[in-house]
Amino acid sequence: MRNDTVDRHDRVPLETIDLFDEERYRTSSQHAAWHTLRAEAPVWAQESQDGTRFWSVTRYADVLRVIKDHRTFSSENGTILAVLGGDSAGGRTINLMDLPRHKGIRVPTMKLLSTSAVHRITATLRRRVRELVEPLREGGELDLVPLMLRLPMLVVGDIIGIPESYWGDVARWTMAGVAPEDPVYLQGSREETLRNVHFELFAMFADVVADRKVRRREDVASTLLDLEIDGEKLSYEEVVLNCYSFSMGANTTTPHVASQLLLGLTEHPEQWHALRTGKSDVDRAVEEGLRWATPTNHLVRCANTDVEIAGTRIARGEQVCAWVASANRDERVFTRPYDFDTARAYNPHIAFGNGIHYCNGAPGARLVLRLLLEELLAIVDGWQPAGPVRHLRSNFINGITELPVLVQPDPVPGPRSRTAVTAVTACPVHH
Ligand code: HEM
Repeated sequence: MRNDTVDRHDRVPLETIDLFDEERYRTSSQHAAWHTLRAEAPVWAQESQDGTRFWSVTRYADVLRVIKDHRTFSSENGTILAVLGGDSAGGRTINLMDLPRHKGIRVPTMKLLSTSAVHRITATLRRRVRELVEPLREGGELDLVPLMLRLPMLVVGDIIGIPESYWGDVARWTMAGVAPEDPVYLQGSREETLRNVHFELFAMFADVVADRKVRRREDVASTLLDLEIDGEKLSYEEVVLNCYSFSMGANTTTPHVASQLLLGLTEHPEQWHALRTGKSDVDRAVEEGLRWATPTNHLVRCANTDVEIAGTRIARGEQVCAWVASANRDERVFTRPYDFDTARAYNPHIAFGNGIHYCNGAPGARLVLRLLLEELLAIVDGWQPAGPVRHLRSNFINGITELPVLVQPDPVPGPRSRTAVTAVTACPVHH
């Protein structure tokens, strides 16, 4: 099992740090490296496998500045280390656009995923989540990962416009798309894996878009077909690419927050008990799950101009990697950052990013995570780890691929759920 705990005196020699190497994220944690960089080299240069140099920022304040200052730091070249040389979808999908074009997709699609929109489907969503966790009522040993992978589609499958018959496949294809070399997802080579899953995803979205062309619905796919930027409609390819982006955003993140939150709770039975007895608050637990998991380890930006960060000069055109996972463990901001504490009161985590690209799926993600916890609290008396936890081979997504647990069901399962939906909007959006 990976050890994610770092003592405040723990340091690793700077010359041994490699934040690019994907295998390190599967077999060990990078927390000691980030801890060292925050203390000794808050702006740090290294090269990717193909020799492209990138700067890493690891302190909360610097990470926040980079992702918030969209004028200085552009998203159009790409936002992940895997495509440092330039993303082929740059400038064409919501997450890879700068202002003013970004607004053209952001504004019309945002209302479909807003807090009020997801609240409207709470009853349906609760029923779906209850069905999902049904296998845990029996107790015994099971792997939580396959169940958690199905969570995002329960809340945003219809909203994006993905037919329910594809929800299971989409979860797998999108994960393979971000971690093609993970042993769970690899089919042949990295390139073959990517080719296969992109083919499947784009074929599915081609069908969805063809359907919406004749029959509009209230979903992201239909909205993309209708919207105009500077008086021009999106091309067919841009509609499909954006459907793909929304699916990636949802499926590669939410399941891993759920898994890591539940892992933390199996390792801290006293915190599960506090939640069961109402001594701890479910919304706070969700926020700690988001901080603890931080499923998007990093966000890359390209400097639009020469700029200085913490005394280091970065030249126009250079790539800056903002390590969100490090920011969310920064001892300058969080008390006892390496403690998993579901009762944590002050928790300004930036797991959903910040600024103009702040995650527009955040209300849906928060809601489904809360309903998951509530439904589990009603049927699970206690649980414990039941074998090794396996982590994803990716420097971008902090994911879990296997999470075996032993469940003790509640002998008298009952509703511990609250009927009112509250506090789903807890996190401020700083535009
Ligand atoms: C716990 C779950 C989630 C986490 C931690 C998360 C994290 C993030 C982060 C960090 C960003 C900012 C990217 C950047 O600045 O470059 C982002 C953007 C985005 N997310 Fe999420 N996400 C989650 C769930 C979802 C869901 C459920 C959807 C649903 C469709 C979604 C769709 C998007 C989209 C479309 C963007 C791009 C927004 C823009 O560029 O304006 N995410 N997400």
